[in-house]
Amino acid sequence: MRLYNAAKPVLFRLPPETAHGMVHRLLGAVDGTPIMSAMRRAYTVNDDRLRVRAFNQQFENPVGVAAGFDKNAEIPGALAGLGFSHVEVGGVTAERQPGNPKPRMFRLPEDEALVNRMGFNNEGADLIGDRLADVDVDFPLGINIGKSKSTPLEDAAEDYLYTYERVKNGGDYFVVNVSSPNTPGLRELQNREPLERIFRTLQDAGASPLLVKLSPNLTNAAVEDALAVVDELDLAGVIATNTSTDRPAHLQNANSAQTGGLSGKPIEGRATEMIRFVAKRTDKPVVGVGGIDSARGAYEKIKAGASVLQLYTGLIYHGPSLARDINKGLLKLLEEDGYDSVEDAVGADLP
Ligand code: FNR
Repeated sequence: MRLYNAAKPVLFRLPPETAHGMVHRLLGAVDGTPIMSAMRRAYTVNDDRLRVRAFNQQFENPVGVAAGFDKNAEIPGALAGLGFSHVEVGGVTAERQPGNPKPRMFRLPEDEALVNRMGFNNEGADLIGDRLADVDVDFPLGINIGKSKSTPLEDAAEDYLYTYERVKNGGDYFVVNVSSPNTPGLRELQNREPLERIFRTLQDAGASPLLVKLSPNLTNAAVEDALAVVDELDLAGVIATNTSTDRPAHLQNANSAQTGGLSGKPIEGRATEMIRFVAKRTDKPVVGVGGIDSARGAYEKIKAGASVLQLYTGLIYHGPSLARDINKGLLKLLEEDGYDSVEDAVGADLP
């Protein structure tokens, strides 16, 4: 933590995407070395009470890395070495894509937030699929699948299928991302008919476990529609939430005016509210994402119904010890409230 406190002002002087690239390369460089083993020992909290089972996966603790951090599946092992139980790589699209012009990622330090309009920049399903074929990890590896920008919405199902076929041997669970605000029209795929078509197509190809990732900007009625598909097709789970196009009035930093998806502290409340809404209406596991940066925030999402958690922006603001700090803090909070385990506390706040 002390090291990150020293590095943070330097990193924050660089454009966010440059800083991200540097951290990414650094993690890649130490991956598989004794430094990584030492980091793993320092950051991993081993405790049976943290273990969670969901959608056929065993998670050593509830906290994972959200999609977007390792878009090309280059460093999942190194990220898990920071004490995370799982890593969701991607978004991967069928086509290799450059994404939107830079700058496309913005810090809002006073708000502990980011705005991004990356636009699914990634090396594409063929290359990432080949890379994943060589990856052998001892933790659940999720693959987040997006739609290629050039593919019309009506052909979305085939586009998702293409990617699934290329990456299927490298992943333990698969996420259909229909909620990024940075691919035109994508979020319309959250509507019942297109959503059903995408998932049926993937199921016909044998894809499982399949999860859907939802936007925090959906109305309650739209969430209910999506959940109808989840139940009807017996999907494995729901991820709530992606980044938000809303801009709460209290945001301080001028970058709030940038086009894109807002993540971090300002979406924490809305994400938790949506987790609660979803968990009340389905028995499927909910993966809670959005503004998690402390044990207390993580615990709130668990009590609201999330079995598994993910974070991205918190890592930028709090550094590599965040998963450890959350896991240690969770154990204390569980003890205080008399819960035997994380699983015991899931949905505790629900009526
Ligand atoms: C993301 N996120 C994201 N989500 C997704 O499903 N596919 C993706 O490719 C990306 N890419 C991406 C890039 C960047 C730069 C950011 C900041 C975020 C969304 C991410 O997985 C998560 O849902 C949100 O960021 C909310 O969590 P945090 O960041 O508040 O913890």
